Amino acid sequence: MSSARNKNYLREMNAKKVYHPMAHPNDLEEHPPRIISRGEGVHLFDDDGRRVIDACAGLWNVNLGYSNQPVKDAIAQQLADLPYSSAFKGTTNEKLIELSDVLVDMLDQEDMRRVFFTSGGSDSVETALRLARQYWKLSGHVDRTKFLSLKRGYHGTHFGGASVNGNNVFRRVYEPLLPGCFHMPVPFDYRNMFNESDPSRLTDLCLAAIEDEIAFQGADTIAAFIAEPVLGAGGVIVPPETYWPKLRALLDRHEILLIADEVITGFGRAGAWFGARGWGVKPDMMCLAKAITSGYFPMGAVAVNERIETAFKANKDAMGVISHGYTYSGHPVGCAAALACLAETVRLDLPANAAREGDYLLSRFRSMMDTHEAIGNVRGRGLMMAMEFVADRKTKQPAGKTFMGAVGDAMFDAGMLVRIVGHNILLSPPLVLTRKDSDEIAAAMEAGLAKVSRGPAT
Ligand SMILES: Cc1ncc(COP(=O)(O)O)c(C=O)c1O
Repeated sequence: MSSARNKNYLREMNAKKVYHPMAHPNDLEEHPPRIISRGEGVHLFDDDGRRVIDACAGLWNVNLGYSNQPVKDAIAQQLADLPYSSAFKGTTNEKLIELSDVLVDMLDQEDMRRVFFTSGGSDSVETALRLARQYWKLSGHVDRTKFLSLKRGYHGTHFGGASVNGNNVFRRVYEPLLPGCFHMPVPFDYRNMFNESDPSRLTDLCLAAIEDEIAFQGADTIAAFIAEPVLGAGGVIVPPETYWPKLRALLDRHEILLIADEVITGFGRAGAWFGARGWGVKPDMMCLAKAITSGYFPMGAVAVNERIETAFKANKDAMGVISHGYTYSGHPVGCAAALACLAETVRLDLPANAAREGDYLLSRFRSMMDTHEAIGNVRGRGLMMAMEFVADRKTKQPAGKTFMGAVGDAMFDAGMLVRIVGHNILLSPPLVLTRKDSDEIAAAMEAGLAKVSRGPAT
């Protein structure tokens, strides 16, 4: 077994036998992924023993870092007590019930009443879309089946989520997708179809486009609008302050459900306990995943408000059966992990820390624009941040692929793992970040940038 574990074997097998998500299989030999062997605190170690700070927190999810003992203990204890139990009709488990109570309590401000458990973010989105359609059928509005979402939004990889995704890359090769999904302009002040940088005017233009689409489709055909409170994978796009409250009001006028995809923003990442709460808005459903178990177990949930709960309660026939569920819905180990993660998030007051360290890092990154012409835009909210690279600041022509490849390598060489998406560096470090960790990230960014360029990214 020891020879089978040697590095060459692992690299060769990875290149030959694995299909990696979001990667071309033919690329694996030429650009082999780094093999990560160990995690400690906010740091990762590769199989060469290289230590880097994880400025992605895995995939926006390892909010507690890699060494949280209470979470590891809770998982070990649950594995000993009950490693699996089904939540389909007829059985449930203690941890599932406890977690439901904790979550509904946590979401009292949003008037959430019930939770449905899933195995991850894509499952949560799929669940919310299905429940939205079922809600309207239960309410007697059988034509309300369509979905609105934002261009550049990301909602996972199931067919429902892919259909509301607003990025061509995640759609094109899997088309045809779900009919009846329409994509609205994203309120992104740096790049938008209106060439408008004023936040208030941009908000009104984006909302006017939604109003126009609703009128065209017919409000009575639209089930729900789904959006991320702060767009993540689409490039960390922070909508203007008034966008979400005005969106909620607009949807209310047309009785359209609002689904907040909080898979990234839930549990503090954007500096508030939930993204929608940060905008002062109450959605009808909230998709949760990622930080709910901080990456220690695959898990997700959908919370629904009183409006949805009432429709199900009022129905007595088969139409009200939730004919949807996953083998791992309410997995006892996942629920035990989530209970421990949420308790740790409360104990450490991580949303406040995200706001504090996010503000600090943003100002450090913004000051780098003075020296590095290639940085076109720096943006973020809490510990969700993006640095966008351009070949020309005036025209905003995106930086090239080769340059961005060099940026990723330079950052790793400088001791930091970042995520490169298109011509952006996306940063989403663990929420347990200390000021010393933030300084380490800023220093690695400086060192990495110094290596690639002081001029434009042509
Ligand atoms: C906003 C959002 N929704 C849904 C998903 C899908 O989650 P998962 O990858 O856990 O299926 C993601 C994943 O990054 C996401 O960012």
